[in-house]
Amino acid sequence: MSTRMPVFDLFAPDAFDHPGGEIDGAAVAIGPEGYAVLSFEAATAVLRDTRFRNSALQLMEDFGIADGPVHDFRARSIIMREGAAQLRLRTPLARFMGPAIVQDTRFVLRQIVAEIMQDVDASHAMDFHAAVDRRIPSLVYCHLAGAPSTDAPRVQSLSERTLSLLARDRTLIPSILDAYNELFDYLADLIARKRADGLGEDMLSYLIGLTDAGKLTEQELFDEATSMLEASSVNTAHQTGLVVWTLLSDRAVWQRLREDPSVIPAAVVEATRLYPRTGVLSKIATEDIDVQGTTIPAGSDVHVAVWSANRDPERFNEPTIFDLDRERNQPLTFSTGSHNCLGQGLAKVEMEEVVRHLVENYPESRIVEEDTEIGQVAGRWLVKNLMIELR
Ligand code: HEM
Repeated sequence: MSTRMPVFDLFAPDAFDHPGGEIDGAAVAIGPEGYAVLSFEAATAVLRDTRFRNSALQLMEDFGIADGPVHDFRARSIIMREGAAQLRLRTPLARFMGPAIVQDTRFVLRQIVAEIMQDVDASHAMDFHAAVDRRIPSLVYCHLAGAPSTDAPRVQSLSERTLSLLARDRTLIPSILDAYNELFDYLADLIARKRADGLGEDMLSYLIGLTDAGKLTEQELFDEATSMLEASSVNTAHQTGLVVWTLLSDRAVWQRLREDPSVIPAAVVEATRLYPRTGVLSKIATEDIDVQGTTIPAGSDVHVAVWSANRDPERFNEPTIFDLDRERNQPLTFSTGSHNCLGQGLAKVEMEEVVRHLVENYPESRIVEEDTEIGQVAGRWLVKNLMIELR
């Protein structure tokens, strides 16, 4: 056991004032909610160690969802599985979400962004989060899943309401349960309609095809579709807003994007490093595990502070500076290890296309700082308002 164990509450409102990396020379701290893993090296080790399990199921149980369909879905879902059981669900999704689909989706996205921007009144400052970045991911999900685009507002609301569990607010539980039940009904109906109308080239058709070929069970088909829907929209919407805010706020960076749009992908990655939507990833130790000299006892809550690891000076030179030229810039925003984000290629393309649209069509745009609210809840960065003058 380490002799030094600093105390640090990473869910405190001022937690993000910590500059990043170790605290008092230690990579792991203790707080009211359990262990906090702060350095890049320790965070990477924890995220790659399957003895740390996702805490989402425990969080549901702590909040009183101890049985029933929502609990049982969570227990069976990809994020809770390890080893061969996880690969059984991950491999089909990873195959479908390969580079070809991501690149095809880029062209669809250009159209989606252009159509949304046509509805926008650019004559005065507008909330870009409400009008633009919140609307895009659910339209992309509908395209991917082969659902009509008129379903997008419903998909957006379902993703926002189900994943609000991570806000760790007990008062949201009734709305979370309602949202899951509505999501289950929605997907059962969508899958039935697809079977009736004939399969296409989309993700749900692909998964139904695997099921009909005996490679997935009906339950697994349903669980795959549910996991993809809940993960599809809310994180991408907030992360897109955070990226746009970061890039437009730094005029020197924005000027560079205008002069050379080929650096947009690097700019998106660097912005996600500084402001990761998924600022904290929560795990549970399944046995006693040593993390850089600290023994974390079995059963402990272990919170990986991605926002801190992404600003660790041991890993990122001058970590608070936005630097477009970083070598091997691989922040932990999409996690690492066997559960790294399956949608990250798609999410990056979404963000790139929003930025590209602004650079090409509204190069003189500015953030109205006094009406913009960016914050964090339970360690997750979020956009409340993002007021922009489009020019
Ligand atoms: C910018 C937006 C996004 C961010 C920041 C993000 C972040 C993450 C992170 C951090 C994880 C790992 C969670 C953990 O280990 O506890 C994850 C997993 C996952 N993400 Fe994303 N995600 C985003 C968008 C998406 C999209 C668009 C999709 C699907 C279309 C998606 C699907 C998934 C799935 C299915 C997993 C579970 C993978 C597994 O357990 O093997 N994500 N995401």
